[in-house]
Amino acid sequence: MPKSKISHLALFSALSALTFAAPTTAQTVVGSGVPASTVPNSTERPIAFAEQAPADAGLVILMQGAALPNIPALSPAERSAVEAAIASADFKGKTGSTLKLRGIGSRPLIMLAGAAKPDDQGADWKSAAGKAVQKLITEDTELALVGPPDAAAMADAALGLDLGQYRFDRYQTDVETAPASQGVTISGPQASAAQALWNNRHKHLADSVRMTRDLQSEPANTLYPQSFVDRVSAAFKGVPNIRIEVLDEAAMRKMNMGAIVGVGQGSPRGSRMMVVRYTGGSGAPLALAGKGITFDTGGISIKPNKGMWAMKADMSGAAAVMGATLSLAKSRAPVNIVAVAALAENMPGANAQRPGDVVRTYGGKTIEILSTDAEGRLVLADAVQYVADRYKPFALVDIATLTGSVGRAVGDQYAGLFAREDEIADRLLKAAEDSGEHLWRLPLHPAYAKAIRSDIADVKNSGVTDAPGASAGAHFIGYFVDESLPWAHLDIAGVDWNKSAKPLTPKGASGYGVRLLDQLARDWTAE
Ligand code: BES
Ligand code: MN
Ligand code: ZN
Repeated sequence: MPKSKISHLALFSALSALTFAAPTTAQTVVGSGVPASTVPNSTERPIAFAEQAPADAGLVILMQGAALPNIPALSPAERSAVEAAIASADFKGKTGSTLKLRGIGSRPLIMLAGAAKPDDQGADWKSAAGKAVQKLITEDTELALVGPPDAAAMADAALGLDLGQYRFDRYQTDVETAPASQGVTISGPQASAAQALWNNRHKHLADSVRMTRDLQSEPANTLYPQSFVDRVSAAFKGVPNIRIEVLDEAAMRKMNMGAIVGVGQGSPRGSRMMVVRYTGGSGAPLALAGKGITFDTGGISIKPNKGMWAMKADMSGAAAVMGATLSLAKSRAPVNIVAVAALAENMPGANAQRPGDVVRTYGGKTIEILSTDAEGRLVLADAVQYVADRYKPFALVDIATLTGSVGRAVGDQYAGLFAREDEIADRLLKAAEDSGEHLWRLPLHPAYAKAIRSDIADVKNSGVTDAPGASAGAHFIGYFVDESLPWAHLDIAGVDWNKSAKPLTPKGASGYGVRLLDQLARDWTAE
């Protein structure tokens, strides 16, 4: 053989050794390099509090029934005109109902918005305010909101306004009627107490829900694991008692996190594990783990095109745990939290993992991959083991857009709740009731646990015929959580994205989980 051929062969084998070795640096991502937008969402109505309603503003009156409350802003003549309108429209003041009136007095408009819950079960000031502001989205006028009787009700109305008027329009350059951006003044005698409540708690909750919705809404060419990390880090900048740790692929590979690295291996966008710790109290932390698939094509087990675009929001769980932690930290809640986002992009490709592959996880347990589309449970397998091992939490809640099956079981009004013990389930059900983000408990069962066992590894991630899909997913994650650790799994695949507007959640990203987990953490700290 001539000499040159030999060296050629040697070079070839050296090259192939390089190719087969685990890559130590991320591959270059080649996008168009042209950002779809460099501007933020359009300006919304700023929220203020005052004892008196501004004289020229459109008036929004929240009503806990058909009786018009005592409002100093209305003259006796205006008051009787509004009462006549209530009678002729047969307006009952039920939550979600509105009545828009014009031509009364000098105000540009008067809107009545119902706040009464069914069967006289109190008032829903949040929903009434959220619905009203949505109905007034193109009313080019300043607003005054009246009716909530005390500071707590006024602050609730402010939260409803803020959540209800959320929009994601930074990519729209051709809007016919720009949404109104004049302020809303929430008016009543307890204005300064309401302002304090808003500043200290509600505003932080609203801002955090917004961050979560923005992350959910961003398309996957903008939001990928590293850009998720960058954005969330920026949101926590300057917030006290926060520590952030980010594991890249090399770090995860070193710790044998074969499940999360395997999911991301078909994508040039490197996977990440982001851990945010908030230390506002003493004792062990509550751990929150979120599924962060920045786009789920299904991988080699590729999804059909119909609705695939919505898989840009397959990181909703990760966005929710970060939102809840941001809210708790900004409002200085006396709790300890460790939140982990398991971030990867699930793509097909020459280097993607295949059905039949077997991977090893952080704690050494193995998984047979029967569908590369059951990837959420894979990234969470490493995340829950890691967070339990490193941070010794007193309890662990994971939240994930895990299965289509949960939506078929409980629809779009509930997320699915799975727990081994009643205590953690009851705490979550109570937090759901108090926060308005509803949960329905679904079953774990030893027979379903058996159904996820694999013929050649410890467990399999799909192909389970003897168990309902959402329960199989829950059992899979639970397999990686020690029996002694209180654990709950929330499957939010039916509630992360709204097909149509609800009073507190406009069409699109719901931010589900931020309010729920914020509430859970406030009610439950380590003993
Ligand atoms: N991200 C999906 C679940 C999903 C479906 C979320 C619809 C939101 C809306 C998840 O990764 C998935 O593909 N799940 C599979 C699991 C199956 C392969 C075991 C499913 O639900 O079909
Ligand atoms: Mn999937
Ligand atoms: Zn998924």
